[in-house]
Amino acid sequence: MPVRLGDIAPDFTADTTQGTISFHDWLGDSWGVLFSHPKDFTPVCTTELGYVAHIKPEFDKRNVKVIGLSVDSVESHHKWEGDIGETQGTPVNFPMIGDSERKVSDLYDMIHPNANDTLTVRSVFVIGPDKKVKLSITYPASTGRNFDEILRVIDSLQLTAKHKVATPANWEQGEDVIIGAAVSDDEAKTLFPNGWKSVKPYLRVVPQPK
Ligand code: BEZ
Repeated sequence: MPVRLGDIAPDFTADTTQGTISFHDWLGDSWGVLFSHPKDFTPVCTTELGYVAHIKPEFDKRNVKVIGLSVDSVESHHKWEGDIGETQGTPVNFPMIGDSERKVSDLYDMIHPNANDTLTVRSVFVIGPDKKVKLSITYPASTGRNFDEILRVIDSLQLTAKHKVATPANWEQGEDVIIGAAVSDDEAKTLFPNGWKSVKPYLRVVPQPK
């Protein structure tokens, strides 16, 4: 069964490079990013894990825990971590799930038989503090992910969870936002007392709320 937006992220217990975890307990009140990579000791994945390790402080700032996964064992992950540290200039500073039995991969539908019936695809799930799935993206094996985009989406998700706004195309932190479509003009007057720019009645632009 695919895991869809708004579903509760399936819970599991798994061995990781930082010990055994129960996923929901490990997440606690944090946001989470669960991402899979096809296989250990592969070139694109090596760069991805190095990049995530570099920008981990950005996830920490946003109260987001990150965790990787592949269908290889924890022992193999530990060996590979040595290569990642050597080639990417940073130790891997987040846990990686060993999923040799494909328990978690199956639970999250990370094996796509039409792509490859043994390897996990490059899936990304963003999970909210309510344990619901807020974002899922699937990349092909040949394309490394843009993790800055994942941070950008998390900024939007965290903003729009607090305020009745939405973020326009290519929005970045600090830029103008859009008043949510379900907000009437009367309600908008209360929520945004400094007013807004009405490009169209359905496209009302305001500065990003603090
Ligand atoms: C890679 O990470 O480089 C990779 C993994 C599986 C298939 C193709 C590329």
